[in-house]
Amino acid sequence: MARLNLLEETRFEKVPVSVYSDPTTASIAVAQRIADLIRSKQEKGEQAILGLATGATPVNVYAELVRLHKEEGLSFKNVITFNLDEYYPMQPDSEQSYVTFMNRNLFNHVDIERGNVHIPDGTLPMEEIHDYCLAYEQKITALGGLDLQVLGIGRTGHIGFNEPGSAPNSGTRLVTLDDLTRRDASRDFGGKENVPTKAITMGIGTIFKAREIILMAWNEKKAEIVKKAIEGEISSDVPATYLQLSENVEFVLDVDAASQLTRFDTPWLVKDCVWDRRTIKKAVVWLSHTLKKPVLKLTEDDYNNNGMAQLATEKGPVYHINIDIFNQLQHTITGWPGGKPNADDSQRPERREPSKKRSVIFSPHPDDDVISMGGTFIRLADQGHEVHVAYQTSGNTAVWDDDALRFVEFATDFVKSQGIDTQKLEALYKDARRFLVDKKPNQVDTPELLTVKGLIRKGEAIAGARFAGLPDENIHFQNLPFYDHGKYSKEQDYEDDIQQTMELLQRIKPHQIFAAGDFADPHGTHKVCFDIIHNAMKRLRETEAWTQDCWVWLYRGAWHEFEIHEIEMAVPLSPQEVLRKRHAIFKHQSQKDVPVFPGDDAREFWVRAEERTRETARLYDGLGMAEYEAIEAFVRWKFEEE
Ligand code: F6R
Repeated sequence: MARLNLLEETRFEKVPVSVYSDPTTASIAVAQRIADLIRSKQEKGEQAILGLATGATPVNVYAELVRLHKEEGLSFKNVITFNLDEYYPMQPDSEQSYVTFMNRNLFNHVDIERGNVHIPDGTLPMEEIHDYCLAYEQKITALGGLDLQVLGIGRTGHIGFNEPGSAPNSGTRLVTLDDLTRRDASRDFGGKENVPTKAITMGIGTIFKAREIILMAWNEKKAEIVKKAIEGEISSDVPATYLQLSENVEFVLDVDAASQLTRFDTPWLVKDCVWDRRTIKKAVVWLSHTLKKPVLKLTEDDYNNNGMAQLATEKGPVYHINIDIFNQLQHTITGWPGGKPNADDSQRPERREPSKKRSVIFSPHPDDDVISMGGTFIRLADQGHEVHVAYQTSGNTAVWDDDALRFVEFATDFVKSQGIDTQKLEALYKDARRFLVDKKPNQVDTPELLTVKGLIRKGEAIAGARFAGLPDENIHFQNLPFYDHGKYSKEQDYEDDIQQTMELLQRIKPHQIFAAGDFADPHGTHKVCFDIIHNAMKRLRETEAWTQDCWVWLYRGAWHEFEIHEIEMAVPLSPQEVLRKRHAIFKHQSQKDVPVFPGDDAREFWVRAEERTRETARLYDGLGMAEYEAIEAFVRWKFEEE
């Protein structure tokens, strides 16, 4: 049995959970615990036996340990480490190996004895693996067991590489990776097909024996699996749920990874709430979805039986609450994303004045505009606004090599057909072919190939924007420098990107900005692109009067829509508009069928876009709103509320 949980608020949580404001603060706290353990062992003249994980999650923990070593004299001389896992097969010096990862992030920067480092060996012949795994396990036991094991969690619920189906008493062994895990790793390997199908991993039983287990998870992408691991039934479908059986485990989360836990997501089920506007809307929308009843049909009993009695008493009668929420939802819907001229705008998402607005759609990659808000884009242009689109990056990593070759061949043949000398082009083509023969997965292309790939995407973006109704002079290619720097160095400075964005905005002086508001992946291009716009606007707001009348609307990228209670503008699309949007997306031929970076979703971009907008329409319908074919959703970013 796990420790007793005496708090009502955490009644659904079956393991101890600590929640921090952000991953950095959480990582520093975990590093401090590791450092305390190492030091207390040093004082006793003992060794600290650590179980370590790789992946994005522990990177800042290791960075903090390195800092503690360099700045505060923390020594690793008495530390023995065992890593959880390694891909199989895998050469230790390969870019993607966990040996490389650990050296880069920790071991190269501290004074650990190399003989004290253990990482499963990905080079063994198959027939030796069994004995090797047994010996790995025995070595840990012989040293007295792990003092502390740090873990991340995969979106399959794996810990180590113990994928769904793993047994609670499993030991170190060779396993087959889940398809989702391989997809998540595909960016590191330059395509899923390059991700090994197997790995050697410590077992759940091995992990379990550690005297202390800390499982860390950051960001919204982990929220769903974290909820299952903490609140769900113990099941081999989610191997991390086995940790509920341990006395020695703690989950360390940031607020985003914790956001789906009951106490944060539906707090009315576990405690008294402060019923502000946002919470009321969220709760009523939740109640309507949970009971599959339109908002106006929810009764006092429905409220009382679902943790919302306090709301009914404080703000009731419920009929009034229902009407209020119904009206709020209704007022988010508009076919006039640039405002409706000559109409009362007191209950509309956008202002009626000026009736012809200048709108800038920022698109992180060349196709986000049409994928994420193609219907709204077309509407704005149709309704006579001065619409501009700004493609923030070239997207030149996401074009297949053979497509690039095909375009160079085309260029050469065309130039030749016009009787112009093609010597240079032919030389370039030969170099490119030679380079591609030996190109390693994820290797950065030559500058010429990057140019060709960028131009392919530029042509597609122009076709898409023209199709949406824009004149050429309103199509802007920013080619923000951070995107190319990122390929060569981790050190980033966004000053040039911000300056360039300020200049563009100052030239257009928009009344509306549309920007991709995906914040789940802090290193992702979308987040960086938003931060650049945000910084540019913040600076302009200090001196430029027009910025006070400029509203910023956020749209979401391909993977995740806003929640219904968050949506402030819902633009419905007719079946014909859905089709027009689809054709705009089709202009991005290099991304069709199988894109280079499909992410963690096997569907084509246009399918994702349609399914997502249809789902939003379905959810609105379920609340008792009018039934639409599809809805594109937006949330307003308010500088005043920062
Ligand atoms: C890594 C490991 C995995 C990761 C998990 C989360 O050694 O065993 O279980 O902890 O896949 O990965 P990130 O941290 O990259 O999200």
